[in-house]
Amino acid sequence: IQTDEDFRPAFHFSPKENWMNDPNGMFYLNGTYHLFFQYYPEDNKWGPMHWGHATSKDMITWKEQDIALFPDEKGYIFSGSAVVDHNNTSGFGDGTTPPVVAMFTYHDAKAAEEGRIDYQSQAIAYSLDEGKTWTKYKENPVIKNPELQDFRDPKMNWDEANNQWLMALSAKDRAYFYTSENLKDWKKVSEFGENYAAQDGVWECPDFFPMKVENSEETKWVLIQSTNPGGYNGGSATQYFVGNWDGKNFTPEADLHGKNIDHPYWLDFGKDNYAGVTWSNIPKEDGRTLFMGWMSNWLYAQEVPTETWRSAMTIARKLTLKKEDDKYIITSTPVKELEKYIGETITKWKVTDEDHAIIDTNELDLTKAQVSFLIPKITKDVHLSLSNDSGDHFKFGFKKAENEFYIDRSESGITDFGKEFASTISTGRRISTSDSLQVNMILDNMSIEVFYDDGETVMTEIFFPKQPYTSLKINEGVPVIDIEANEFNFN
Ligand code: FRU
Repeated sequence: IQTDEDFRPAFHFSPKENWMNDPNGMFYLNGTYHLFFQYYPEDNKWGPMHWGHATSKDMITWKEQDIALFPDEKGYIFSGSAVVDHNNTSGFGDGTTPPVVAMFTYHDAKAAEEGRIDYQSQAIAYSLDEGKTWTKYKENPVIKNPELQDFRDPKMNWDEANNQWLMALSAKDRAYFYTSENLKDWKKVSEFGENYAAQDGVWECPDFFPMKVENSEETKWVLIQSTNPGGYNGGSATQYFVGNWDGKNFTPEADLHGKNIDHPYWLDFGKDNYAGVTWSNIPKEDGRTLFMGWMSNWLYAQEVPTETWRSAMTIARKLTLKKEDDKYIITSTPVKELEKYIGETITKWKVTDEDHAIIDTNELDLTKAQVSFLIPKITKDVHLSLSNDSGDHFKFGFKKAENEFYIDRSESGITDFGKEFASTISTGRRISTSDSLQVNMILDNMSIEVFYDDGETVMTEIFFPKQPYTSLKINEGVPVIDIEANEFNFN
């Protein structure tokens, strides 16, 4: 690897330069997917936050746009969301185009330095040109701080069943729910999460929306809830809760009372998918729930070995709500738009003595690979490994006795930039009980996203090999039912 650019993903969004974290304000309008993001344009580490902006026709290839929101005397622009106000309930519209209304958190860094705790409040801005330029509302903030230190990341949605705007907000160790008629006046209606599930960190970046249960007429409400630290494998990670919403209160299906992280409801078990939320205003005819997260972890995000730019987003994913036995689970799969970039089949895979199956190619950096196994035929752990001639190995697979997946990046390449990058092996529960095990992986220069069992368990992690990985091996003695690999083609 010669330069930072060699690590740059080809089909995941990364900023041209400097620091990025959470995805913000994602909305779709007139054929364009908008992505805003926590951005510090002046350094490669976190700093006074702006909202950067990028647009895409397919959520795969992105065009970076001008910065959308700049910090001002009221504070930095922290994470938040955006909705398209078709009926001009806000009154910001000019009668021709529907206003796009964003809500974000003002983080008053000066007040924080002075030792105050009321430094985060919620504010709005609107755009009359489909997200290009924004005007901050004169009467900001619209929600003042209630003397609570962590009070941020408003995520708005339209609650059709109850004919109201809805907003979920992170409040330290729980979520607050608010409703509104005009996107300006907000009323808190309930709280959820006290002493519930992961509690070793601060709850951040919630998202709250209805989903149809697959193959049924049932609708459930889903609360996506990031936490930092306190994730399943340490650091930052994202849980979800499925339940019912009566217009005021959320009641979860699964009982996760008590400080508990050992549950299956993690959207991604890997270390590098954080602060993810869904797109708003996806047309009814489309009907998908589309999600994207930040592909890093606060444990080491500011030290990763790219100096000119830092961090990428995950691939956009379609979320599906399934009912299995008595559990409601969410699966994630890459959006179908990715398929049109699938190029040639890599046919060079073979079975050898030392390694049961090998895909050997010039470079595996932009690859989709799919391997399947039959659980009853597996008598030992399954180890897959990506490697190169520099001796780097990125290992992942399935531990049969534990019934869990794992990632071990301790020898994956450059790992010494942060002591928590590779010091522990990540594990992820196998949720599916199917006899057939499908492993679907997406590789893009510095990242792997592994979708097991059609996305019932997902593990996303980043890596920095000394040179690109060239082969994928599966250990000896593990019967492979099927294997297939394709290059991605972005020309
Ligand atoms: C999550 C987060 C948010 C906050 C933003 C600041 O990664 O800490 O809670 O709004 O980042 O950049």
